Amino acid sequence: MATVLEITGATKSFKRGAPVLRDINLKVEAGELVALIGASGSGKSTLIRMISGMERMDSGAGGITVLGETTQANGRRLKAQRALRCRVGVVFQQFNLVGRLSLLQNVLIGRLGRTNWARGTFGWFSQQDKLWALRSLERVGMAEFARQRASQLSGGQQQRGAIARALTQEAEIILADEPIASLDPASADRVMEILADINRAEGVTVIVSLHQIDHAFKHCQRIIALKDGQIVFDGSAADVTPKDLASLYGAKAPSTQMPSNTAQKQAMPPVNRPQQWHSKPPSTIRNPRSRKPEKELIL
Ligand SMILES: Nc1ncnc2c1ncn2[C@@H]1O[C@H](COP(=O)(O)OP(=O)(O)OP(=O)(O)O)[C@@H](O)[C@H]1O
Ligand SMILES: [Mg+2]
Repeated sequence: MATVLEITGATKSFKRGAPVLRDINLKVEAGELVALIGASGSGKSTLIRMISGMERMDSGAGGITVLGETTQANGRRLKAQRALRCRVGVVFQQFNLVGRLSLLQNVLIGRLGRTNWARGTFGWFSQQDKLWALRSLERVGMAEFARQRASQLSGGQQQRGAIARALTQEAEIILADEPIASLDPASADRVMEILADINRAEGVTVIVSLHQIDHAFKHCQRIIALKDGQIVFDGSAADVTPKDLASLYGAKAPSTQMPSNTAQKQAMPPVNRPQQWHSKPPSTIRNPRSRKPEKELIL
């Protein structure tokens, strides 16, 4: 299995001397579905933002390598970060669709990194791009809403649109920051099922931060728990105990159905990492693509 993400010794501070992420070390292999859990303020979003290049890590010895390219080192964002943008899709809690554009137009935005600059600027997408977008919408069960304004869609529908945008982008990694936090339980289930299915069927690596740990246990083989900016657990969902959750969330520990050890372990690919709590851790839709120039279409 190829390593698609490696973070070594990464620290992030917004204020000097007050790091919100401390000495983060982690490796993610291609095709993993990883849940990031932890109390509010533990650093989940900051970690996701650092991986996607929206935040710069502190200077020091640490570094971040995504899909084999070093994106940050010694507190600097490197050129590779920009080139990787279209290979890493980000899904946010608030969907981030442009309300006045149709769903299809929003999803086509995912093609911008892969289309010629002038075409992108004027919104001239090829038939091939449109096909990608429509297939992605179909994949998340939203094709029938393609022409509808994003602002007229429900939260769950918009989030499925945001996932379709990442698929249209041909993202090899999807980073989802609390993608279900603003959704009702049924929509939340649907969105998590879709992410898990994309991970299973297309092999897209998914890293998802979640407050709803039931979903983390149900869908994710691997759990990474953050506490006060440090990784305190990295391992199989089957190895998380109620006591661990209490230590993570304190008195507010969510009551949840713990995963069945055996079932989870059977579903788990063997992983080569410590599966225990520690205060200091050791260190596409694959559609056929035609390269033939396509007739340009204005949406
Ligand atoms: N832009 C920023 N400027 C200053 N401090 C920030 C910034 N972004 C995050 N922080 C601080 O960093 C810490 C971690 O925040 P982060 O948003 O990563 O936590 P989180 O685990 O995602 O929390 P939540 O579950 O509430 O989303 C918090 O103390 C937060 O106040
Ligand atoms: Mg957050």
